[in-house]
Amino acid sequence: MTINVMFVCLGNICRSPTAHSVFQHKVDEAGLGHKIYIESSGTGDWHLGKAPDPRTMRAAKERGYDLSALRGQQVKKQDFERFDYIIAMDDSNLDDLRRMAPADFSGYLGLFLEFGSGSEYREVPDPYYGEEDGFTLVLDLVEDAAEGLLAKVKQDLTERQLA
Ligand code: 4NP
Repeated sequence: MTINVMFVCLGNICRSPTAHSVFQHKVDEAGLGHKIYIESSGTGDWHLGKAPDPRTMRAAKERGYDLSALRGQQVKKQDFERFDYIIAMDDSNLDDLRRMAPADFSGYLGLFLEFGSGSEYREVPDPYYGEEDGFTLVLDLVEDAAEGLLAKVKQDLTERQLA
């Protein structure tokens, strides 16, 4: 049994692939790669099968994250059966996901930055139409929230082992 985590943004080429890779890095560092399974996807379908945005890959690489193997996919209804955590980057993604979610979904469906240590941001801003610093901000917010998410999922793993 694994705990399955899905990160969702709009295009699946900037924010959610960044979250995917950063969280995977932290999970692997913690030696939990066999217990926590991670994917990312977009609510939109424009970038299916495409590699992440070059600006996203460049900014991530500067911090040691390699996003080159990731490919765009679109979130689907069946994902609510496969994932324990479905984590949205912004309110618009979350609204779309809430509309798709079956009434009996019992996992976590919410904003990524709820796991953050606290900042002026409650959403991860979409960097796609902005400047280079938007991609750095995504990394800052994602690295911080990934810590909090890992702590929460570790707690879940402990509780499951006790149950
Ligand atoms: P993301 O950014 O949701 O963080 O992947 C975007 C990527 C592409 C588009 C919008 C946002 N787009 O309109 O194609």
